[in-house]
Amino acid sequence: MSYNPEIPRNRYDNYGDREWTRLERDGHGQLLYHVHLDILKRYIKKDYRVLEAGAGSGRFTKDLVNMCSELTVTDISSHQIEFNKSKMKELSLFDKVKSFHVIDVLDMGIFEDASFDCVVCIGGVINYLLDKEKDGVKEMLRVLKPGGILIVGAMSLIGSVLYYLEGVRYEKGLFGIDATRWILDTGIQDEEHYPVPSKHYVHMMKSSDMDALFADFPVTVLERSSAGLFTQAGDTAIENARQDKEFWQLLIEKEIAYTKLPGTLDCGMNIIYVLEKNK
Ligand SMILES: C[S@@+](CC[C@H](N)C(=O)[O-])C[C@H]1O[C@@H](n2cnc3c(N)ncnc32)[C@H](O)[C@@H]1O
Repeated sequence: MSYNPEIPRNRYDNYGDREWTRLERDGHGQLLYHVHLDILKRYIKKDYRVLEAGAGSGRFTKDLVNMCSELTVTDISSHQIEFNKSKMKELSLFDKVKSFHVIDVLDMGIFEDASFDCVVCIGGVINYLLDKEKDGVKEMLRVLKPGGILIVGAMSLIGSVLYYLEGVRYEKGLFGIDATRWILDTGIQDEEHYPVPSKHYVHMMKSSDMDALFADFPVTVLERSSAGLFTQAGDTAIENARQDKEFWQLLIEKEIAYTKLPGTLDCGMNIIYVLEKNK
């Protein structure tokens, strides 16, 4: 289960438009978007210098840039960075972004220690790091000021299994029951144990994995949230709900509220941690 930067780079170099519309094209994406946006709005202050690591196509870049005084955008995929730049130009936001960089979150040596008030790393970047997860957290904390805020969002193991259960059963037919037990036990989808043809090798996480990941670092957890909770209602129910505007508005409001309840933390599609770097 070693980290291979070519896996996310190749995947996202061939993504483009799909990433830009990911959070808009259906109800599931909208739920994710609103939960993340609510968190970003509550923690990011106007005078902050913010680093968006693994920014992708810019779905949150366009919001972040108006929330802070200085935004730096990075991603491992040159294609995503080019796409992000073109979207920011389209939206007349390009000049507001301080700089764009094609770099791995594991090696952000171009930034000095304690350069940022907030590091935002959402949408599952951490899931690709596998055996290098701790190195990734260490590097993000290095560039963050003491007292700064780290926002990390990961793909949830239990939430994914709930939503994709039919797929998990299908894959049992491909890989066998031992592999199924492995994925349910560890969340690790890798070449050795769970060789999905897409080579989408990731560590899907439980909240206990997130707690363990951050336990060794000088941080205080300020908030834990799930995201994409109502997603579990299924595609049809979500699309029907979306057609009923007042119902959908209420669901978004409740998605934001329910995802803060400890009992729902592992049940959404993502898990988000907000941490403060100790002073
Ligand atoms: C699902 S997208 C999320 C994009 C954006 N943060 C969002 O939430 O919409 C994941 C992004 O992380 C980037 N990524 C994956 N591994 C990375 C790494 N090690 N360093 C930097 N970026 C990485 C990918 O290229 C991709 O653009």
